[in-house]
Order: sequence, then structure tokens, then C-alpha cells
Amino acid sequence: MPNPYLPYEMRIEKITEENPENDLKTFILSFLNEQDIERFKYLPGQFGEVGIMGVGEAPFGIASAPCERGILKFSVKRMGFFTKCLHQAEAGDIVSLRGPLGNSWPLEKLKGKDVVIIGGGFAFTTLRSLVRYIIEPENRSDFGQIDIVYGNREPGQILYKEEFKEWLTREDINLYLSIDREVPGWDKYVGFVPEITEKVINPSVTAIALVCGPPVMIKYTLPVLQNLGFTPDRIYTSLEMKMKCGIGMCGRCNIGSKYVCKDGPVFSMAELEQLPPEY
Ligand SMILES: Cc1cc2nc3c(=O)[nH]c(=O)nc-3n(C[C@H](O)[C@H](O)[C@H](O)COP(=O)(O)OP(=O)(O)OC[C@H]3O[C@@H](n4cnc5c(N)ncnc54)[C@H](O)[C@@H]3O)c2cc1C
Ligand code: FES
Repeated sequence: MPNPYLPYEMRIEKITEENPENDLKTFILSFLNEQDIERFKYLPGQFGEVGIMGVGEAPFGIASAPCERGILKFSVKRMGFFTKCLHQAEAGDIVSLRGPLGNSWPLEKLKGKDVVIIGGGFAFTTLRSLVRYIIEPENRSDFGQIDIVYGNREPGQILYKEEFKEWLTREDINLYLSIDREVPGWDKYVGFVPEITEKVINPSVTAIALVCGPPVMIKYTLPVLQNLGFTPDRIYTSLEMKMKCGIGMCGRCNIGSKYVCKDGPVFSMAELEQLPPEY
């Protein structure tokens, strides 16, 4: 087990501006040392602490998938001090990375099941990792049908636009893209994620739902999923609340007896029902 305090050195290979406001950027990082590629073994749903020397570090979900060998992808919204500094970085700059941290989406439980993926806004990062993992040819037959509902305020906010275009052409993915309000030229769904979910999802009895997005979206989507027949042990979400150390040492992320950074960030609704409502 490598020392969890020791970061990997990473080079920023590419930066993509994801939205017109330019406050959402995707960073592609590569390992400075070739042997670190093998050491950094991760699964969809895990996160890393990206750091800048002399500035600090912050947790971000890993948006790349393990099959994308040698690179890691993070999509970062500009919020405060650290993310502002990261947004000022340029291709070629060196950053640090601690991880992989936390648990993953429940891959073993998903095997043989239909998977319903529900995302909102820039929280689609680790869901993107999961979809990329599932559709990898060597993994695809392990999973059933994939339904994806992905909602945004407006078309400009959609992450990974080119990739979504490709997923729309795939026969093995049912993709329902939605925006909150009608805009000229938009020919997909219009409405909030819970109502689109109610309209388009017709789950099999063993399907599993994975939800990640703004808290208000999650709050209103969960009852819809339960009305559609999903039991609490078949609904998972990722809690991206404030964290510090990311390894269960500082006590900043507790919910009851659980450390979100170590025991999560992915929890089933059945698990969350056993915890105090502090999330
Ligand atoms: C497991 C995990 C995964 C995450 N994945 C991503 C990701 O993929 N992309 C991404 O852009 N962000 C992600 N975040 C959130 C990200 O860590 C914060 O936005 C970041 O730490 C903000 O740092 P800052 O110094 O820029 O802002 P700060 O100066 O720390 O805060 C600026 C403002 O943002 C608010 N804020 C800070 N952190 C959070 C948070 N976790 N939740 C809600 N509000 C917050 C503060 O209250 C404050 O109002 C993730 C967080 C966790 C715990
Ligand atoms: S962030 Fe330090 S214990 Fe979880």
C-alpha cells in the first residue's frame, strides 16, 4: 500500500473549456513517471486530491476510465481559491495527485443487471468514467441495458459534448439528454431530471440506479426512483461534500460513524437511511 500522503507528479497535457462561461474545464493529466501508471490502479467512482505546490489541494472525481491508460481526466468547476488557481494553469504545468481515494460505483453488484444512470450538471464526471468502463468491448457483455438521463440548465453546460454525440448513435445505450427550459434549436428533452426520469425510465425488476448531481436534483429524483420500483438497496449516489485529507484522518467529512472520504463517497440509499441526515 503506497503512502497515501505521497502525491504522484502529473503533467497537464490538455485543457478543454467545457462551457461558454469558461468556469468549467476538463484537465487531462499524464504521469511524469512511467512506473506510476501501474501503481495508480482505480475504478469508476473513485476520486483524487489534485494539488498545486504552494496553493493547496482539493478532491475531484476521476472522470477518465481505467482503460484510458496513462492519463487521468478531471472536470473542474471554478468555485473558490484552489479551483481558480487550477483554472489559471496551462498545458505543460506540473501538478500533484493523491489517490485513488474512496470506494467505487458498485461494479460487482452491477454485473448482469440493467444500469440506470442519472446525472446533472458537472457532477457527471465519475458517471462518465463508469459508462466508459461498461462500454469497453471486454466489459460490455457483463452488464445489461444502459439508460442515461443527463440534465443541464442549457445546452452549453453539457460536459463531454463530442462523446455524448457518439453515445447518441450507439444502439446499446438509451441516452436522454435534457435541458431545463426550451431554447431554439434544441431537439432533445426539456424539463427537470426527476420528471424526465419518470417519463422515460421503465426499469427491469433488478435494475440498479446510480445518481449524481446537485443536491436538489438528487432530493427530487430519489422518490421518483422509488415510485418506479427501485428499492433503497438498488439506488446509489455519490456524496461530494466538503473534505480535507481524503483518507479518514482529519474527521472533516463524518456522517455519524462513517467517513465519506473512506467509506464512500458512493453509498446506497439503504446505507444512507441508517445514517443521521447530515448530508
Ligand atoms: C469526492 C468529491 C468529488 C468531487 N468531484 C468534483 C468534480 O469532479 N468536479 C468539481 O468541479 N468539483 C468536485 N468536487 C468539489 C470540489 O472538491 C470543490 O469544488 C473544491 O474543493 C472547491 O475548492 P476551492 O478552494 O476552489 O473553493 P473553496 O474556497 O473551498 O469554496 C468556494 C465555495 O464553494 C463551496 N464548496 C467547496 N467545496 C464544496 C463541496 N464539496 N460541495 C459544495 N460546495 C462546496 C464553499 O462552501 C464555498 O462557498 C468534489 C468533491 C468531493 C468531496
Ligand atoms: S476528509 Fe479527512 S476524514 Fe474524511
